[in-house]
Formats: sequence, C-alpha cells, structure tokens
Amino acid sequence: MCGIVGYVGDRQAWPIILEGLQRLEYRGYDSAGIAVVDAEGVMQVRKTVGKVDGLATANGKGMPPAPLHGNMGLGHTRWATHGRPSFDNGHPHTDCRGRIAVVHNGIVENFTSLKARLQDAGHEFVSETDTEVIPHIIEEGMDQGLCFEEAFLRMGRIVQGSQAITATCQDCQDTIWAMRLGHAGGIVVAHQDGQGIVGSDLPAMLPILRQSGVGGKVGFLDSGETAQVTREGVKYRDLDGRFIDKRLQAVSPEDVLIDKGGYRHFMLKEIYEQPQVVASVLRNRVNFQHGKVDLAEMPFTEEEVKSFQRVVLIGCGTSLHAAQVGRYLVEQLGGLPAEAESASEFRYRDPFLDEHTLVVSIAQSGETADTVAAMEMVRSTGARLVTICNVEGSQTTRLAEGALYMRSGIEIGVASTKTFIASLTVLSLLGAYLGQTRGFLSAEEVRRLVDELAQCPRLMGDMLTDTSQYQRLARRFNGYQNFLYLGRGINASIAMEGALKLKEISYIHAEGYAAGEMKHGPIALIDQRMATLAVVPRNSLYDKMVGNILEVKARDGMVLALATEGDKEIVSQVDEVLYMPGCGELLSPMLATIPMQLLAYHIAVLRGCDVDQPRNLAKSVTVE
Ligand code: AGP
Repeated sequence: MCGIVGYVGDRQAWPIILEGLQRLEYRGYDSAGIAVVDAEGVMQVRKTVGKVDGLATANGKGMPPAPLHGNMGLGHTRWATHGRPSFDNGHPHTDCRGRIAVVHNGIVENFTSLKARLQDAGHEFVSETDTEVIPHIIEEGMDQGLCFEEAFLRMGRIVQGSQAITATCQDCQDTIWAMRLGHAGGIVVAHQDGQGIVGSDLPAMLPILRQSGVGGKVGFLDSGETAQVTREGVKYRDLDGRFIDKRLQAVSPEDVLIDKGGYRHFMLKEIYEQPQVVASVLRNRVNFQHGKVDLAEMPFTEEEVKSFQRVVLIGCGTSLHAAQVGRYLVEQLGGLPAEAESASEFRYRDPFLDEHTLVVSIAQSGETADTVAAMEMVRSTGARLVTICNVEGSQTTRLAEGALYMRSGIEIGVASTKTFIASLTVLSLLGAYLGQTRGFLSAEEVRRLVDELAQCPRLMGDMLTDTSQYQRLARRFNGYQNFLYLGRGINASIAMEGALKLKEISYIHAEGYAAGEMKHGPIALIDQRMATLAVVPRNSLYDKMVGNILEVKARDGMVLALATEGDKEIVSQVDEVLYMPGCGELLSPMLATIPMQLLAYHIAVLRGCDVDQPRNLAKSVTVE
C-alpha cells in the first residue's frame, strides 16, 4: 500500500526520494508527493495525482515546478483510504504554517475527534485525510513550547491505530523522525557515509545502499519505536524518549534490487522464476538421497508435533487459496483434520483453539493487517503458531513461533504468482513433515512424494518453454466479459486462484467455483457469452469434471479445458484445450496454476491493462 521515503545528507534529496518512490511503486498507490527543505530553509511540497512520473512536472499550488533543491526531504506514494486520490489528499501533509511535513501509512483511528478538537483550537485543514491531524498535533505541541522531538513523541502517544509515520520540520536542523505504532506499515532506517534514509520497505533504500556496492546495515522499527535520523547517524528511542539499543541487520544491494531482467513485466518474470523458486524452497529441506523431509525451522519437539490434533490454515486472497490447498495436503499427507479460513473472518470469530491446534498463517508480505490481527488473536489462546512468509523480519514472522520462508526473492507484481507456488511447495513439505513425524506416512510414501517434488522444477520449466498458445488463446478470449473457473477436489481452489488472477489484472469478471456447486446457481449464467475454464486433470474426479463440462456445453457455453497431456478424449468435448504434464494428484495444483497465470497475463496485456500495478490493489494490504 502506501510507500514512504525520507532522506537527509549532502546530496540533492529530490532524485534520491524520487528513485525510492519509483522503487516502491509496486506496492500500489494512486497519488504521490515530495517535500524538500530548500536552500533558504523553507519547506516546499509538490504532489501529483496518478503515477510518480508526474512529479517531474508537478506544481505546488502557485509554486514553481519540480524538481526541488535541498538536502533533506520526505516522499510518499498514497493508496487512498480517507478521501479520494486528489492533490489536497496527497501526502506530504503540513501544519498551518507549512513548516512541518508528514508522510504516513496506516490509519489514525481517532482522527475524527482529534480533528474536531484541533479545528476548535483554530487549526486549518485542507484535506479529507486522517493523516492531516498528525502535523497539526505536532504543531500544537510546539505551540505549547515543546521542541520538535518532544512534540513528535507526544503525537505518538495521542494518535490511535496501527501506523508508520515520518516527519520533518524546516526549523529542525536537518533531521528526519520516524515512528512505528502497531503493525500496519513497516519502517526501515539506514545510515551510511553521512547520509540517512528512511523507507517503508527495503527497495526504498537502494539509492543509498547500492553506493558502496556492498549494501549496509538497516534497522527495522518495532511497534512503539522511533528513529531520529541525521547526517551524523541514527538514534533509536521509545515513545517516552528512552534510548533503544537497536539490533541492525545486514542487507546486500541484491536484497533490494528490483529489475525486470529483460521481461516486459515483473509478473511475467516472476512466473518464469517459478521453477527456481520451487528448487529454492526444497533446498536443505528435503533429503533427496534418503527420501526424507527435514523442516528444521519448525519450532516444535517431536512430542509436540505428535500432540497436534488439528491444523487451521489462514490467509487472505491468494494466500487463502494456498491455505485451502494446504488443507488437503495436511489431511492427506499429515493425517490430521484441517480447516482453511479467510484471516479476515477468522479474526472476528471466537474459534475453538487450544494447545493441540496448530495454526498456519500464510502471507507473502508478512504485513497483511487481517492476517496479523488473526495471529495476535491466536497467540492469546495458547494454540501453536507458524507462518509461511516471503519477507524476513516482517510482522507475521515476528508473531509466529517459527517461520517457513518462501525463499522467492522479492515479488514486485501486485498479483502474487511465484509466492503462491512457493506457498504450495512449503505446504507440501509441511504435510509430509507432519505425516513423517507422526508416523502417518510410511518411509516409502515420503520417498515417493519427495521424488515427485524433485521433478516439479523440470516439469514447470517444460511448461514455460513455449507459451505461444497462450497468446493465441488470449486473442480468442480477451473479449469475454465473464469467466467461470471450475475445478474439483484439491484443484477447486486453483480454479478460484485462476479467477482471482484474471479479475485482478484484466478487470474481467471471473468467478471460481468448486464444480459440484455449479448446478446450485452459477449454471443460470451460462450461455454463449460466458467462457468457462475447467481444470480437468486425469485424477479420481476426472469423470465428475467431464460431467460438469458437458452441462456447460449443453447450454452453449464456451469451454477451455486444462487437461493432462495425452488426454485425447477431452478434445471433442470442449472448444479449446491447454495441457499440463501428468503428476501425482497432490502436486497437480502447482502445475495447474501456471496456465492460469499465463492466460490471465496475456489477456491483460492484450486489453492494455497495467499488469504489474492493477488499479485499486496493493502489494501489502496493511489496513483492514
Ligand atoms: C494476490 O494476487 C492479491 N494481490 C491478493 O489477494 C493477496 O494475495 C492478498 O492481499 C494477501 O496478501 P499476503 O499474501 O501478503 O497476505
């Protein structure tokens, strides 16, 4: 969602902040802005509605155009929550006198009462945002005689809700302050060669970290922590101003580098990375020689694993679909009852959880507000908690007892692709690990699964060798306004994921259904204007799926089947066929996903959509 960059040093702040914002574009946003303290010591602000590129020619109201000149500033990409995308609602926000600039991720939950109180005291507001109360509260503190630092800390004790805040003041001696409250939105800080940089996540730091060629050390703020960043260094404090001994983490430029690697879009690059991602997930977790799974990251003793009576998997969006596939894997490999649920629903139930329940949260970003909140609720129950995540040090990894990393490298495309495949791979390992440890699977069964997993990268690579058929199919299907995706068993959730991919990047209406549900309602929609994608691999539910396909054809629906290589029977039943390699039923979701991704991608490209940054979506959904 929103992105933050702040810089102080000897170089011009504008190009550094601008590059940082460009590197955060993948998070999703709808307006952008930069504030710089100019050579005369005056705070200047420029904003644009739409893309960051618009800042190059952005005017302030009645001010000269960008770029701004000065050595300290803040930048922001805003994803609208309170108030539509507009110049006035864009960040940075300022106080009445325009001396203090603030950028902010998250929500000030008590902003209505704060705004009313501040307005009564004479403060003038120009936006509809919750954020704007922040510079006015700081201003109020300074009007009461506090220095900026004291006023900033006071503000942190007044605002309620989860948020990340970065602020500066034209009268404050080249200093940027950053604060993290709760879990919505991260703040990372680095200092190197007389320069300080603050970002909402690591890519924002690249303009500084790549300078040395070796990266640097960064500090991730925890909730209730602040950073005071100057040319001289960084001071970490809590909200009462007490110094904190912050543990810094080393990062290399590669950790933060974002590059399309010759592909037209990040999403396409990330789809092509999937074979390597599977190999990376398996590395050191599978003993191919002995046919065993070794999940050393699992934070439980063998006795504890044996004591589990139930597994609950939670996530949102694509991660929920991974959880749903995981339910099958845990039941069939781990031999445990399993449930999957949306984290956004789970957090508001009063679910039955105890120390014999293992909860598995899934979140590529590790910052999804609903998932984080659900995990906090789980912690209070005594249930055991692990997370599957792609971002080291993120919220979910801190909340869980252990983290099973996706090892996918940074995913830029807002539509999750490689992290979904990574989640499925981790879940296969988790299922096998549970079954192996609990004695549910025989050594031979584990070996067979390990052998199948070992083949996945090659099979996926084969599927990605010639993708010309997707371009042809995209031309045939891109004019449809409605799609139904059908699947059964472990592939019902893959149908849902396929529909989600199509709708989020092409804006075509698409629904994913367990095929058995079709005749309970969706069948009413079927006519020649409805396209149906049927996931119909050769497995125990093949005949049932063919039955559903015939029901669609009987109503003049157009059917594209995703079938197993060598299935000739299906050709006469449908309009088009895509093939995937044959594999064991439990691993079929991993292979079936690739055609869904490629079809959605090529349709979206043909429709001229912004594939990597679809409208209204964000990479990390840090608000509820
Ligand atoms: C996936 O393509 C979507 N962008 C979205 O549904 C996403 O999966 C969801 O917001 C959850 O994200 P997380 O994995 O970071 O928790």
